[in-house]
Amino acid sequence: MTDQKKPDQATTSEKPWGGRFSEPTDAFVERFTASVGFDQRLYHHDIIGSIAHATMLAEVGVLTVDERDSIIDGLNGVKTDIEAGRFEWSISLEDVHMNIEAQLTKRIGITGKKLHTGRSRNDQVATDIRLYLRDEIDVIAEELRRLQAGLLDLAEREADTIMPGFTHLQTAQPVTFGHHLLAWYEMLVRDGERLQDCRKRVNVMPLGAAALAGTTYPIDRAMTARLLGFDRASENSLDSVSDRDFAIEFCSFAALLMTHMSRFSEELVLWASAQFDFIDLPDRFCTGSSIMPQKKNPDVPELVRGKTGRVNGHLISLLTLMKSQPLAYNKDNQEDKEPLFDTVDTIKGCLKAYADMVPAICAKADNMRVAAKRGFSTATDLADYLVKKGMPFRDAHEVVGKAVAFGVAEKRDLSDMTLEELKRFSDTISEDVFDVLTLEGSVQARDHLGGTAPAQVRAAVGRARKLLEADSLKLAPLSFFCVSSGA
Ligand code: ARG
Repeated sequence: MTDQKKPDQATTSEKPWGGRFSEPTDAFVERFTASVGFDQRLYHHDIIGSIAHATMLAEVGVLTVDERDSIIDGLNGVKTDIEAGRFEWSISLEDVHMNIEAQLTKRIGITGKKLHTGRSRNDQVATDIRLYLRDEIDVIAEELRRLQAGLLDLAEREADTIMPGFTHLQTAQPVTFGHHLLAWYEMLVRDGERLQDCRKRVNVMPLGAAALAGTTYPIDRAMTARLLGFDRASENSLDSVSDRDFAIEFCSFAALLMTHMSRFSEELVLWASAQFDFIDLPDRFCTGSSIMPQKKNPDVPELVRGKTGRVNGHLISLLTLMKSQPLAYNKDNQEDKEPLFDTVDTIKGCLKAYADMVPAICAKADNMRVAAKRGFSTATDLADYLVKKGMPFRDAHEVVGKAVAFGVAEKRDLSDMTLEELKRFSDTISEDVFDVLTLEGSVQARDHLGGTAPAQVRAAVGRARKLLEADSLKLAPLSFFCVSSGA
């Protein structure tokens, strides 16, 4: 035992938890367990959380006013260093929390070591992520609204433009392009509602749970929560440090949003092809081919469609991360950050690209119209016409089926047949049939709430704009606790 290596005092004591250890951390394990490479993005929220904690500790008499002021000054200094790129992040200090605390102590001396009184990294990190996510949610909500507003403008512009509506990707009935765009809008409305619902559960403060059981200091959790703009403090300390539901809910919102954006992308890609040729995407959102000079590729929609995979994957990562964890905090939780951060970055990027691109989509109305005339898109209108003249719907369906079969053989649309030809299938058909066989007649006839008639599209845009504006007022970013020294 005599030749046992003496512990490296310098290295073990550098760790905030070094006291119990007799040898330094293995160099690989240090890198393996560190999160500072990715959690440093929480620095701002870590610092405002610490300032609120110190403010509360002084209020309840655990810190003196001088200690509080010195801590707040020091933290503001650390923040300035980080933002100026002067901060040296250290792997051996593991994470953002210990890096900042060590730097604070370097700046202000022994008082820095008092900041961690009555808290643990377990409630600290849970608080940081919630503060971070709350801010990102507000940014994402704004970007989502920008995309929604762009869709509304485009839908209004294209309220009269007629295109084929599809089921099974087969021509079904004519619709207006504005109406089709409003379907995308509705999906985004639901996404926005889910995001705000998720925010409610994000905005709950875990701080005060400490490691897992609470703390023996006379803390005032309601005060800290108020200072940080949380709606309330969490109820149960064990749940507070172990709960990551809010991150899963956010990723679930994001996965559904991306699923919608991906479906939208799929249509844009199809429509931009030479075979459909329904739209033109502005050159600035496309790229070319290094070998085929004619190519203009819809890269932005393709990438958005592609990025859906990673966002859906992050949701599964988080669900799987949590599924077997016993209470309360486990180091597993450190794995929550990268999927969450990447989800935030990815959806912000996709929303920005779409909010910029959608208003610049150019509809090729003539091509849409030609396509809408192909495939007997007004066949249902002819059946409805016969029903209104007294024929049972099933019989009308049969009559129109025969007329369509004739049209297929003759390569002619129903509207291009003569009255005599149509009368061969039913003599209840008269001259007024041509009003319903035209594309305009067909869309205009669907004139009810939720229908495709141009007037309904305009009315829907009007209602949606009002709701969207009311929403942006309601959701204006919170003004909460401001970091200032010597508060
Ligand atoms: N870096 C850790 C995380 O992201 C912080 C909490 C560590 N707590 C602990 N008891 N080791 O979860």
